[in-house]
Amino acid sequence: MVALSTTYMGLSLRNPLIVASCSLVNNLPGIRRCVDAGAGAVVLKSLFEEQMQAETKDLEQEIWLPGHPEAFEYVSKMGMALGPREYLKLVKEAKEAVSIPIIASLNCISPKWWVDYAKQIEAAGADALELNISVMPSDPKHNSAEIERITFRILQEVKTRIDIPIAVKIGSHFASVARVADELCRRGASALVLFNRYYQLDIDIEKLELAPGYKFSSPHEIYLPLRWIALLAGRVGCDLAVSTGVHDGAGAIKGLLAGATAIQLCSTLYLNGIEQIGRILEEIESWMKKHGIESLDQIRGKLSQMESPNPELYERLQYIKILVGIE
Ligand SMILES: Cc1cc2nc3c(=O)[nH]c(=O)nc-3n(C[C@H](O)[C@H](O)[C@H](O)COP(=O)(O)O)c2cc1C
Repeated sequence: MVALSTTYMGLSLRNPLIVASCSLVNNLPGIRRCVDAGAGAVVLKSLFEEQMQAETKDLEQEIWLPGHPEAFEYVSKMGMALGPREYLKLVKEAKEAVSIPIIASLNCISPKWWVDYAKQIEAAGADALELNISVMPSDPKHNSAEIERITFRILQEVKTRIDIPIAVKIGSHFASVARVADELCRRGASALVLFNRYYQLDIDIEKLELAPGYKFSSPHEIYLPLRWIALLAGRVGCDLAVSTGVHDGAGAIKGLLAGATAIQLCSTLYLNGIEQIGRILEEIESWMKKHGIESLDQIRGKLSQMESPNPELYERLQYIKILVGIE
C-alpha cells in the first residue's frame, strides 16, 4: 500500500496534485470534473486586479506602472469574465459542492485592491488564498528593490486581514529569487508556488502586429522550477509547490524529489484532458511500489540541495564539456 496523502500549507490533501489556477476551474462543473479525476485540491482561476478596477469604475486611478491600461484591455479581451461578486459566489458554491480544499486566487499588481476583498474570500469559505503577484518590471525608473517591496507589501497587507493560509505565486524574474522567497516566507506566506508562467507575446510577421504566443508549457520547462525547488527546499520556512512544466508522473515525481510539497498542473490537463490527473497518480503509485516507497515523506526533498553530498551541482550555470559531453 502506498499513501499519497499530504499536508500543504496546513491543509490535508488526499494527494499532492493540485489543479493550477486556470480557466478549467472557473466554474462549478469544471471544479467537479477535477475532483472526480482525483485532484488533491484546486486553485480557482485568478480574479484579476483589472476586473476589480473595472467593477469599481476607477480604472484610471492607482495605476502603478505604465502599460497597465493595455493590460486591462488584454484581460477583458481574454474574456476573464468572472467579476468580484460572481467570484465570491463561485467560492461558496465550490465549498458546498466538493470536499477537497478550494484555494482562491487573486492576481495582484499593487496592494490597494485586495485587502478588503481577501476578507470576503475568507468569509465565503475558501480554505486558502493564492496571491498571484505579477509586477511587470518594464519601467527603468523602478529598481528591483522597489518591485520586491511591492511584492512584500501586497502579501503583508493581505496577511494582516485574513487568517486562512496564503500561498504566493511568483515569476522567476527576480535578481535574487532566494531572497524574495525567504522574505515572503518570513512575512507569513505558508507556501510559495514556483513559478507562474506568464502570457507570452509573439509577432505576426505577415500582419506586422503582436499576436498571442503559444499558451501551454512543454515538459522541458520543468527544469527552471525544479532547480529552484531543489535549491530552496528546507531553506525557507514554508511549503513549496512546483508550477510550470509538470506534464506526467515522471515530472511530478521529480518535483517531489526536489522538495515540493505539492504539484500544480495546468497545460497537461488542457492537452491531455482532466483524466491526466488519474494517470499521473497511477504513475506515481507504481513508481513508489517499484522503489519500495510507502509514503511521500520518504522521498520529498531527497534530491534537494540541502540533502545532497554535492551541493555545488545545483548552482552550476555553465555548460562544461567535461560534465555534459557537449559544448
Ligand atoms: C489558459 C490559462 C489560464 C491561466 N490563468 C491563470 C490565472 O488566472 N492565474 C494564475 O495564477 N495562473 C494562470 N495560468 C498559469 C497556470 O496556473 C500555470 O502556472 C502555468 O500554466 C504553468 O503551469 P503548466 O506548465 O502546468 O501549464 C494560466 C495558464 C493558462 C494556460
